[in-house]
Amino acid sequence: MRKEFVLPRRMRGLQPTLIRQFFERALPDSINFGLGEPDLPTPQFLRDEAARISRDEQNGYTSHPGIPALRDKIAEQYPHLDLPRTGVVVTCGSQEAMTDAFMCVVDEGDEVLLPNPSFPAYDACTRIAQGVPVYYRMPADGDFKFDISNFRSQITEKTKAAVVISPSNPTGKIMTPDDLKQIAAALEGTGIWLISDEIYSDLYFGDRPHSASSYYDKTIIVSGLSKSLSMTGWRLGWAASKDAEIMNAIQVLHGFTTVCTSTITQKASLLGWSDEAEAAKAHAREVYKKRGEFLVDLFKTEMGLHATSPEGAFYTMLDVRSLGDDIEIAEKCLQNRVVTVPGVAFGDEAMGFLRISFCNTEEKMAEGVRRMKEALIN
Ligand SMILES: Cc1ncc(COP(=O)(O)O)c(C=O)c1O
Repeated sequence: MRKEFVLPRRMRGLQPTLIRQFFERALPDSINFGLGEPDLPTPQFLRDEAARISRDEQNGYTSHPGIPALRDKIAEQYPHLDLPRTGVVVTCGSQEAMTDAFMCVVDEGDEVLLPNPSFPAYDACTRIAQGVPVYYRMPADGDFKFDISNFRSQITEKTKAAVVISPSNPTGKIMTPDDLKQIAAALEGTGIWLISDEIYSDLYFGDRPHSASSYYDKTIIVSGLSKSLSMTGWRLGWAASKDAEIMNAIQVLHGFTTVCTSTITQKASLLGWSDEAEAAKAHAREVYKKRGEFLVDLFKTEMGLHATSPEGAFYTMLDVRSLGDDIEIAEKCLQNRVVTVPGVAFGDEAMGFLRISFCNTEEKMAEGVRRMKEALIN
């Protein structure tokens, strides 16, 4: 007898994010304030190195967790952890590291604490792992800063893991060392895992953000080179933790899902911490800082709207509560050829805001604000 196919429970209800849904519907010649993808060129020395590697070298599989020298370089990024090579698994972008971490930590029915608002992939990864997302608020009225009392109030017997992201997508805010210490104090002795998304850790506009792993041992770091070196399509990320059991599980899962990330990418990424690479990261920080200031100022002077002042990454949250519903407003912008993302895509705390990414030249951003003003205010 033929059985009706039913999607497995882990996949039911999963949809592409609103970020993608808006982006896919962009009209021709739109200004993109939507996607979080660096527009700065990938540094030339990395392109040249990848070209040389593909031309001159044989590029078979690497060992599943990555080229040893690359794992060592990544381990060195966290001197406070004194990680062995086995403490690092190189993955296909930080997205794979994140999915692996959720799958290796979360069991059916486990609760996972997620920031509200935050990157929608955490909710999806929790559901794929058959866990239950539970949200702690980063209050919009407190400029989306961390609030320990809210975080603590969401911890239950069923909490298996919590996620922190700093600098944040979507808010551009950075968690202070004090915030991270308070989280560590709340989690100490509970056995709860902390998944720390540090993909934007090299893009900061004031003090360098601290890693949650400095304060809490049961931390799994997910990070990569996509954002800081404009390498989104190269797929270089990693998971790192002091905990041998979890790293072993991540390595096994990674082997079965992707085998290894591109060998060409891994070899070229050995230059990801060279003097040239550090100069490129510093340049990116300078450019995004200036653009963020320019854009926030433009929203104020041109539209009389408040946008949060970015501390890192390349996002600001534009407060459009005075104009109405964020989905409708994002739709109006879309029709006037500006892609934005309604705040609600990241959680109800960001309702009434738009996430604006500033991966654009000042000239394009000025044109984007002009079009937004035309669509929303005139
Ligand atoms: C917060 C956050 N984490 C992870 C990722 C995944 O990046 P990648 O897989 O390119 O490292 C993104 C990409 O937009 C992101 O914004």
